[in-house]
Amino acid sequence: KLVSKSPDNWTLRDLLRRVAYFEGCSDLELRQLIEYGYRQLFPNGQVVCQENEPGDSFYIILTGSVEVFSQKAEKYIATLHQGEFFGEMSLLMGTPRSATVRTLEDSILFVVDRHDLQKLLVDHRELADQIAQKLSERQQALRDL
Ligand code: CMP
Repeated sequence: KLVSKSPDNWTLRDLLRRVAYFEGCSDLELRQLIEYGYRQLFPNGQVVCQENEPGDSFYIILTGSVEVFSQKAEKYIATLHQGEFFGEMSLLMGTPRSATVRTLEDSILFVVDRHDLQKLLVDHRELADQIAQKLSERQQALRDL
């Protein structure tokens, strides 16, 4: 076959459709969503968020997986997969990155910069609720490390 079916060649809209929060989105909503962010391929082993550094972006995993690690506690925290998000804590709390996030394989991430996240959250209440809930769970987990 001449045309590769690798996810690298899927359209951003196809990739976002696979994310549970956006399953019910109309084509119009997906087009709006796409304007708030961009797709970026991170190779295996790349640090996406560095603990203690300021955070400027929020990420949704379109393909692949990442590991969340606390350098301060020297502890593994979590593995996140396709459809999950990270990087919300520093953006919403105004704090430095709470942990280091690194890809576990080549991964395509949907990247949303700080000022666009606010707009995205107004448009996508379901995602906003999910983020708020995860944020408090993750804060608790970090305190319990
Ligand atoms: P942020 O602090 O911006 O950067 C590091 C990210 O790691 C953080 O946002 C969360 O998205 C993620 N993270 C922190 N703690 C946890 C946890 N307990 N479980 C899953 N993800 C986490």
